[in-house]
Amino acid sequence: MISGIAYAKVNLGLRVATRREDGFHPMDGIFQSVEIVDTLTLFASEVDEIRSSTARPLPDGIGNLAFRAAVAVRDVANSSQPIGVELDKAIPVAAGLGGGSADAAAALALAGRFFGVGTDALRELAPQLGSDVPFCLRGGTARVGGRGDELESLDPLSGFVLAIVVPPFELPTPAVFAQWDTMGEPKGLRIGSTQLPPPLRGNEDLVNDLYPAAVALAPQLDDWRLDLEHRWGRPVMLSGSGPSLYAFFLDIDEAKDATSAVPPGTRFAEPCNLSPFGWQLT
Ligand code: C5P
Repeated sequence: MISGIAYAKVNLGLRVATRREDGFHPMDGIFQSVEIVDTLTLFASEVDEIRSSTARPLPDGIGNLAFRAAVAVRDVANSSQPIGVELDKAIPVAAGLGGGSADAAAALALAGRFFGVGTDALRELAPQLGSDVPFCLRGGTARVGGRGDELESLDPLSGFVLAIVVPPFELPTPAVFAQWDTMGEPKGLRIGSTQLPPPLRGNEDLVNDLYPAAVALAPQLDDWRLDLEHRWGRPVMLSGSGPSLYAFFLDIDEAKDATSAVPPGTRFAEPCNLSPFGWQLT
């Protein structure tokens, strides 16, 4: 039996370019692991199974990606050992926080150890499972390009934390990208570099090109963002294809105060440290 945790990710900016022939969009952005975690256990079983390890049920389809990752590693190892994957989900689903990808990356890492499959093979499997899985396998802070499969690790960021809020609706990533195409590839929501925390200041503005498409599909997203900006007195940004919203704070107490004053009906609101890891053994 082997256990680990999978960290969510936030996009500190996401530029998107014209859809490629294979259906994916070239991206450019800084991805950051954050301390919101799912817990996974992989064990030898009588039959292949995926289940929730707590009373909290797995939402439909969740866990499949983690299970697929573990099975892909088993195939590489040429093993026929039935396996069980237990998952305790705390990362909000369909929120733009990469929860499914984080689970898949952690499952790759756990299964790699379980079946004795090396890192190079795991890195090859990662993009086959999803665009964010290569980053989640690496973790920390990275500049991400290509469809999500070109990674350049960056020095760890520090000197700020995030307050993350998920409004009470979901946004499927494929629909947001398709909407972005239909709308003629709009430019995104921007935070000027002077409004960023000191470690990010002096670089580029923070831009998420998917914001107009996310708002077209869920117009209430803009109301949520403006409400939070008003409450918190600072700019609020969208992570990935949304609907997660976040803002920068200098320390965790400030961020805690912010997340204790959010609109009624909020799905998730947490102060959040940055993580140098995408996954960890426990
Ligand atoms: O790779 P993943 O399964 O996470 O992607 C989900 C969907 O998001 C893709 O099928 C595609 O529609 C869209 N996507 C994209 N460009 C990317 C990443 C994802 O268009 N770089």
